[in-house]
Amino acid sequence: MDVTQLNSLSALDAKHHLHGSTNPRTVIENGAMVVTGGSGIRIVDEDGKQYIEGLAGLWCAALGFDEERLVIAAEKQMREMPYYHSFLGRAPAPTIKLAEALSRITPAGINRFFFACSGSEAIDSAIKMVWYYNNAKGRPQKKKIISRLNSYHGVTVAGASLTRLKINQDGFDLPIDGFVQVPCPHYYRFGRDGETEYEFSMRLAEELEKTILEEGPETIAAFFAEPVQGAGGVIIPSQGYFDLIQPILKKYDILFVVDEVICGFCRTGNMFGADTYNLKPDIMTMAKGLSAGYQPISAVGISDEVFEGVLKLGDEKGAFGHGFTFGGHPVSAAVALETLNIYQERDMVGHVQAVSQTFQRRLHALADHALVGETRGVGLLGAVEMVADKSSKEKFDPALNMGTQVFEETKKNGLLFRAAGDTLLLCPPLIVMDSDVNEIFDILENALNTVANRI
Ligand SMILES: Cc1ncc(COP(=O)(O)O)c(C=O)c1O
Repeated sequence: MDVTQLNSLSALDAKHHLHGSTNPRTVIENGAMVVTGGSGIRIVDEDGKQYIEGLAGLWCAALGFDEERLVIAAEKQMREMPYYHSFLGRAPAPTIKLAEALSRITPAGINRFFFACSGSEAIDSAIKMVWYYNNAKGRPQKKKIISRLNSYHGVTVAGASLTRLKINQDGFDLPIDGFVQVPCPHYYRFGRDGETEYEFSMRLAEELEKTILEEGPETIAAFFAEPVQGAGGVIIPSQGYFDLIQPILKKYDILFVVDEVICGFCRTGNMFGADTYNLKPDIMTMAKGLSAGYQPISAVGISDEVFEGVLKLGDEKGAFGHGFTFGGHPVSAAVALETLNIYQERDMVGHVQAVSQTFQRRLHALADHALVGETRGVGLLGAVEMVADKSSKEKFDPALNMGTQVFEETKKNGLLFRAAGDTLLLCPPLIVMDSDVNEIFDILENALNTVANRI
């Protein structure tokens, strides 16, 4: 076929595309859903059917799907300077401005920014910086990285070694050596009978310290954490968890890397998840909401102390030998700068704080539903965990595909979200209004009722 004649593709032709996070056989058998457009919080498929994007695409389309100012920013930059890199001491102007803008909104002490194209690249870059820093400090043994069960930090070789979800490790010979797992701060699932939520957090802090001592503190370089574990099930940290573990990291001189790829940029009701949970990061990774998903861009923010190490070893080696051809791409950087302007001008933090009242109220109202074990959320993030038995918290037989059944029902009625097993994940565009939130939960509640009537 002539590639100039591709406009008339039908869904079934999508079989040439190997989709990520999809069972490839389903695409061969059913074709793909072809998404052709969008406006506001909705997307449109090739048949013209509209859906509310209840996960903002992949947790990123913060400003919806037709923000004209971002289109203009991209076009303007394309005309002025469509490509340049950030190697060899050169860089395009918007990339330099973006680093300056980020230094004004990130937590105190995070003042230098390295740019990449995806969350996974930011995570890999952060891991390399952790190693580089410890080499600069003359601590070649201090290299192991800790992450938590159910965390998601991307899918590159190192990122997927940190990600603690079976689907991202099994079959890929991951994790590689040097990655250590500790428990997940999900009280509903892992709290013990008679244990209060705070006692549970204390137990996890003790287990973290025990792991550090067993591995040898001189071998542990960093602890990576999402403020709220997103893809692993929108897991809200248990009460006191971060307050208890941060001193332990300090005590053993372990860098705290806060993965803000989902939580960053107003999502939890503050500019960063770090602000919501009072975190003091040494390194921060950001992506997704940084450009509202309109261009691929990610950033790693580092503390002055980590930067000192990078400076020192850079001197010794002759250069900081890391960087990507497209890292800090000028079009992406221009779009990200405009995105940050919009967040500020429209007081997106204030908007999320206001609309999340309705969002969280409607979310938690579902806790009484017969199929629901737990609802949890913060800001415009939410999860509904379905269970077979509310009192024992017993899960449904996976063969029933309860999450998928609910998803198919809401899809029929114009709402997309993500089902992680039987946990329903919500993360709508930040621009949702109260009426949109009510529509989302009306559709979801009806779908839960329909599925409940089947069993
Ligand atoms: C917390 C977190 N970190 C890292 C990533 C990886 O980002 P990307 O898919 O852009 O590589 C994701 C993606 O969902 C994420 O949620």
